[in-house]
Amino acid sequence: MKETILVTGGTGFIGSHTTVELQNAGYEVVIVDNLSNSQADVIDGIEKITGKRPAFEKVDLRDYDATEAVFRKYPDISGIIHFAASKAVGESVQKPLMYYRNNILSLVNLLELMPKYNVKGIIFSSSCTVYGQPDVLPVTEESPIKKAESPYGNTKQINEEIIQDTIKSGSPIKSIILRYFNPIGSHPTALIGEMPNGVPQNLIPYLTQTAIGIREQLSVFGDDYNTPDGSCIRDYIYVVDLAKAHVSAMTRIMEDKTEESVEIYNIGTGRGTSVLELINAFEQSTGVKLNYKIVGRRAGDIEKVWGNVDKANEKLGWRADTPLGDVLATAWKWQLALRERNIM
Ligand code: NAD
Ligand code: WQD
Repeated sequence: MKETILVTGGTGFIGSHTTVELQNAGYEVVIVDNLSNSQADVIDGIEKITGKRPAFEKVDLRDYDATEAVFRKYPDISGIIHFAASKAVGESVQKPLMYYRNNILSLVNLLELMPKYNVKGIIFSSSCTVYGQPDVLPVTEESPIKKAESPYGNTKQINEEIIQDTIKSGSPIKSIILRYFNPIGSHPTALIGEMPNGVPQNLIPYLTQTAIGIREQLSVFGDDYNTPDGSCIRDYIYVVDLAKAHVSAMTRIMEDKTEESVEIYNIGTGRGTSVLELINAFEQSTGVKLNYKIVGRRAGDIEKVWGNVDKANEKLGWRADTPLGDVLATAWKWQLALRERNIM
């Protein structure tokens, strides 16, 4: 039996998919989540997929004592994958203090408890948002970090520095920082997937909700950018491929293969796709015609970003290889499943 991994935010979108892949790789999983942006029945979906029910503790990581109680209850925890955070860029502009308290205090509590309970390493969920609008594309891990465009993005930059400073101060832990690009899609079983609260801010949930008729029309935010078809370009990565990157990274820590006390990796496909190309790929893959219109640009949007992922390919032995059409088909299958279950 492999080690026990604490997955914070494990009933969330990426955390639930990562729990599945950790279990598939033989790890025991303990999920901690305060259910502020997810539901506990996600655990049922995970169990249906893997046949193993992860342990679950409803705990708010801002509560130091409640978080410490988890480490006392599960003394075998050897590693942490830290997904728990608030992640809505727009909301972070309206409620900066909520974002700073939630995203920073949660990490500080975990870092303080790790040496006390002999936890070997932590994988941190960072974001390509730390790069802002890169001057050179594709963006590498050595690309300059730009001034954050939102309090949310700033919490990611600050958290990366907190990890570096903590380890530099002599903390005996290891860390791998994963900078994700745009995770999309859902598990092929359609038993777990992305469940945005309210009106989706991200492209894919809004797109599939338009395709199924929940939303009237998809607005494409601008086609006057300096890109081949004028719409913004992103690096859309399948959430299951992203989940597998976490297993590779955690195994690298567990097997003492890290070469530095903090390693940083871009986790994307290495390819850029425009909004209009993505819409076309969705229609081709599902046969569903999408009702959309071009509108003005969305404030804060960067024009184009995609990653150089050679380092993750080489050091983690990991690659995102699911074709975009197949990924979009999983997103559509998930939307249909939600309709079937009268959830949405
Ligand atoms: P999500 O909201 O689906 O999952 C986050 C989970 O954390 C939720 O289940 C929420 O209930 C929980 N949570 C939040 N605050 C908590 C707290 N104080 N204590 C305990 N649980 C708490 O988000 P996601 O899309 O799965 O993102 C996971 C991580 O990846 C986040 O750190 C996010 O910033 C990062 N990330 C996401 C994206 C993306 O596009 N989804 C891109 C880059 C990075
Ligand atoms: C993608 C593209 C929009 C909706 C955000 C966060 C980032 C990370 C991932 C957490 C853009 C266009 C979107 C719509 C559209 N989250 N779009 N119509 O903005 O790249 O990244 O999520 O870490 O931090 O900023 O993702 O899905 O919102 O937008 O035209 O209704 O789709 O303009 O070009 P984004 P997104």
